Amino acid sequence: MNANEVRQKFLDFQVKHGHKIIQPAPLVLEDDPTTLFTGSGMQPLLPYLLGKPHKDGTRLTDSQPCVRLQDIEDVGDPRHTTVFEMLGNWSLGDYFKKEQIRNFFEFLTKEIGLDPNKIFVTCFIGDEKYGIPKDTEAAEIWQEVFSEAGVEAKIAEIGSAKHGDERGIKDGERIFFYDDHENWWSRGGGIESTPLGDPCGPDSEVFYDFGEDKQDVEKYGKSHPASDGARFMEIGNQVFMQYRRKEDGTFEELEKKNVDFGGGLERITAASIGSFDVFKISLMKPIIDKLEEISGKNYDNNTDEMRVIADHIRGAYLLAAQGLTPSNKTQGYAMRRLVRRAILRALDLGISANFLSEIIPIVAENYRELPDSILTHRESALDVLLKEERTFRFTLNKGLKELDKIAHKTDNLLSGYDLFKLQDTYGFPLELSIEECYRKDIKLTENYREEFEKALKEQRERSQTASKGMFKGGLEDHGEQTVKYHTACHLLLAALQKHISPDIVQKGSNITADRVRFDFNLDHKMTPEELEKVENQVNEWISDNLPVVHDEYDKTYARDTLHAHGQFWDKYPEQLTVYTIGDFDSPISREVCGGPHVENTGVLGKFKITKEESSSAGVRRIKAILE
Ligand code: ALA
Repeated sequence: MNANEVRQKFLDFQVKHGHKIIQPAPLVLEDDPTTLFTGSGMQPLLPYLLGKPHKDGTRLTDSQPCVRLQDIEDVGDPRHTTVFEMLGNWSLGDYFKKEQIRNFFEFLTKEIGLDPNKIFVTCFIGDEKYGIPKDTEAAEIWQEVFSEAGVEAKIAEIGSAKHGDERGIKDGERIFFYDDHENWWSRGGGIESTPLGDPCGPDSEVFYDFGEDKQDVEKYGKSHPASDGARFMEIGNQVFMQYRRKEDGTFEELEKKNVDFGGGLERITAASIGSFDVFKISLMKPIIDKLEEISGKNYDNNTDEMRVIADHIRGAYLLAAQGLTPSNKTQGYAMRRLVRRAILRALDLGISANFLSEIIPIVAENYRELPDSILTHRESALDVLLKEERTFRFTLNKGLKELDKIAHKTDNLLSGYDLFKLQDTYGFPLELSIEECYRKDIKLTENYREEFEKALKEQRERSQTASKGMFKGGLEDHGEQTVKYHTACHLLLAALQKHISPDIVQKGSNITADRVRFDFNLDHKMTPEELEKVENQVNEWISDNLPVVHDEYDKTYARDTLHAHGQFWDKYPEQLTVYTIGDFDSPISREVCGGPHVENTGVLGKFKITKEESSSAGVRRIKAILE
C-alpha cells in the first residue's frame, strides 16, 4: 500500500464513522507562539479540546503535516524523521475510550490489513502524586478487542520501559504498563512537563512488531514494545484528553472528555508493507533512488546519510512551499539548518555539486496531494531552495578549506578563536564548524565557547575604537571594519531602490571604520516607517549570508547586459570592475565599484540607521552604523 492510499483510507474510514474532514493547518501557526512549528495534529485544535464548540461538530479528522525538530539528532535511524504527516481523529466530548480503541484496531487490521498478532499496546500506570488513577479501563477494552480477534492478550506490569531486559515478553503478553514510560500526553511531554492551562491526559500507544529477529539483544536486551531497538515501532497514540493542568500545577477534570488520536502516516505505511525502515515507503523511495543515482552509491551501505538528506529536504520543501524563506532567525533559521545539514551529508556521499534541483521536483510531486490552502508557494519553493543551496555552497567551500588549513596548522585542535575567525571572516557558522570538527575527529579546546565569546567581544571593541584618518576615495582605509561599511553601503542603496524608489542613485558617500554616511536623491524626508523598512531589509540581506563576488567586464556588457548600477558611465574606462551581491542571475545589488568588499554579507553584524537629514536640495543623507 502506498502512503496516499493509507491517508485516503484513514480519512474515508473516519468519515464512515461520522467524522468531518477538516483542512490541516499551516506549519507555522500564527497565534501560537509556544512552538516553532505545528508538531502534532491537535495543536491547531487546542481551544476546542478545552471546550470551545467547533463549527464542524464533535468528530473531526485530518492528515496534518508536522515538523518536530527535537528529533533532528535521531534522524538517520530507520524511523525518526523531523517531518511527517500525522493522521488524526478527534472526539470533542463525543465518544471516548471504547469507541476509539475499537475503531483504530479495526482500521489497522481490516482496512490496512495488519496482522493483529503483531500489534502491542501500552497504557498509563497512574500517578499517585497527582491522584490520577491507573488506566485499567483502557487495558480491559484492549483485552476485549484482541480476544474478539482471537488473539491472546495478557496484561503485564514489567517495570522499566527504557531498556529491554532479560525478561523480555512472556507468552501471551500484549498489553503493558511501565513504571517509567509515562503514557501521558501534553504538548510539553510527560505529566510533570505539562504546560499550565493545557489539555492533557493518559494515553495508550500502539506498536507494530517487526519480528524477533529485529531485536538486538546485545545492544538493547530483549525488546519490549516501548524499548529501544528496531523490533517495535510506535504507529499510533490515543490520548484520552480528560484533564486540564491548572495554574497551581494540579490537574482538574475537563467538563467534556475528548479523544486525541495521532498516528504517523509514514510509519503506518511502513508497517503495511512490513518494512521496519520508513525510508522504503512510497513517499521516500523515489528520493532515495535519486540519491543513489546521483551519488553512484548504494542505500544499504549509506543509510544514515541518505535518510538525513531525504528527511531534511522534505522538510525544507514543505516550509518553502508555505512561503518561508531561509534566514538567521526562528523558523527561517530552522529551514536554513535543514538545507545546510542535507548539503553537508550529501558531501559525505561525494555529492559536491548542486543537487537540490534534482530532488525537489520529486518531493514536490510527493506532496501534490496536500491542499493548496497550506502549500501556497509551490511555484517559488524550488527557486528559494536553489538559491539557498548556491549561497551555502559558496560559504561552505571557503569555510571548509580554511577549517582544514587551521586544523593542519594546529595539529587538529581548534580553539574558540579559530571558530570565531571562521565565522567572522568566512561566514562559516559556529554550529557548522562544531559539527564539522566532530565529523572529522578534530578536537576543540575545553573552553572554546568562552574563547569564541571573548573574540566576539574584542572584535566589537576594536571596531569602536578604530583609528580615524584621511579619506581615500570614499573609504577611510581598507581596514576590516571600513570594508564592512562599504558593503553595507551597497546594501543600503539596493534597499532604498527596492522600498523607496527605483530612481534613487548615490550622490556621494563617506565611509569610516565607525559609520557610513550616504547621500542620495529623494524629494521628501523619509518617514519612520520608510526608515524601518530599509533598515530591516538590509538586516535581512545580512542574515541571508549572501555572497559578494566581483569580476572585470567590458563597459557595454556591464551596463547593457548585467545592468550594473553606475553613476559615471561616460567617465568609466573600457574595462571595469562590477560587484554583485546575492544570486548572480537575480542579484540583490550590482554596482560598478573598485572595492574592496567583504566576501559574504553574513559578517556585517547588525545594521542601524542613526540619522536621516537633508544634505542639499533634493538630496537626503543617511548615517548608519554596524553594531
Ligand atoms: N497528540 C498526540 C501525539 O502527538 C496524539 O502523539
